Amino acid sequence: MKSFLNVEDLGDLKEALREAAEIKADRYKYNTLGKNKTLLMVFFNNSLRTRLSTQKAAMNLGMNVIVLDVNAGAWKLETERGVIMDGDKSEHLLEAIPVMGSYCDVIGIRSFAGLTNRDYDYAETVYHQFEQYSGKPVFAMETATVHPLQAFADLITIEENSPLALRRGAGGEAVKVVLTWAPHPRALPQAVPNSFAQWMNAADVDFVITHPEGYELDPKFVAGARVEYDQRKAFEGADFIYAKNWSCPGVTNPGDYGKILHDYHKMMHWTVDAEHMSWTNNARFMHCLPVRRGMIVTDDVIEAPTSLVIPEAANREISATVVLKRILQG
Ligand code: CP
Repeated sequence: MKSFLNVEDLGDLKEALREAAEIKADRYKYNTLGKNKTLLMVFFNNSLRTRLSTQKAAMNLGMNVIVLDVNAGAWKLETERGVIMDGDKSEHLLEAIPVMGSYCDVIGIRSFAGLTNRDYDYAETVYHQFEQYSGKPVFAMETATVHPLQAFADLITIEENSPLALRRGAGGEAVKVVLTWAPHPRALPQAVPNSFAQWMNAADVDFVITHPEGYELDPKFVAGARVEYDQRKAFEGADFIYAKNWSCPGVTNPGDYGKILHDYHKMMHWTVDAEHMSWTNNARFMHCLPVRRGMIVTDDVIEAPTSLVIPEAANREISATVVLKRILQG
């Protein structure tokens, strides 16, 4: 594997889940695979889980790790071509990338959406520049439009908590997974819901997306998923509730891209609380974290035994180990 951005990059999902279970049973099984290989993790944005879990995954495989926080000590980088660099940006990304590539064997990139230019974000411009100019395999640690390491960990968590779900096939009833929008005071990217939708569509589950009108995700990610604007109807019979906020994806109105469409104080009825969970089939609660309590979810729901947020975060080490192993194996 030379690039990890979309679910298709991993090939057969059942095989990937089998490999995840193998790694989970013995996460050091391949601890010499990365000997004398170096992972460079480049962060343009903050992180807790991705930073720690991906570094741990690389250590599981015997790799060396370098972490670069672009905004903490590196030269300020220009990313646009054709600009006169007479401002505060001292180095262009197009020189920085091949330099970074010369010091490592694999590069992970965290570069969030700017949420001002939809075409630039949805073209995954920064990620593809790393692919093109680094000369090394690259993988997404949340880019402008996707967060595949998170979605893979989410799928592993769903599989672990519904052992029959993804194996039923043959006329069996699939588990119902609901992705629900929830309020937030700041404009957030669509990377997590995009990837979650993409991965759930590829998995053998009954997948429903619910959100207020105007927050329609890009059709490329929604694909054949059912969209239900009535949150209560969507929650009925759900086995898993995956909550997440996202800003306007600008599908129906490109001018609204990256905006919060309603005052969040008026949207608090979308916050997942005990009443919402009572509409479900005793569903498990999921969120990628970090989460704002009282906005996305109430304390009692996230602290309940049915909450999977901690095992979900722990599975980030497993998803990253599988992905790095695949990259090292070429
Ligand atoms: N879920 C996730 O990617 O967490 P971080 O932003 O802390 O890495």
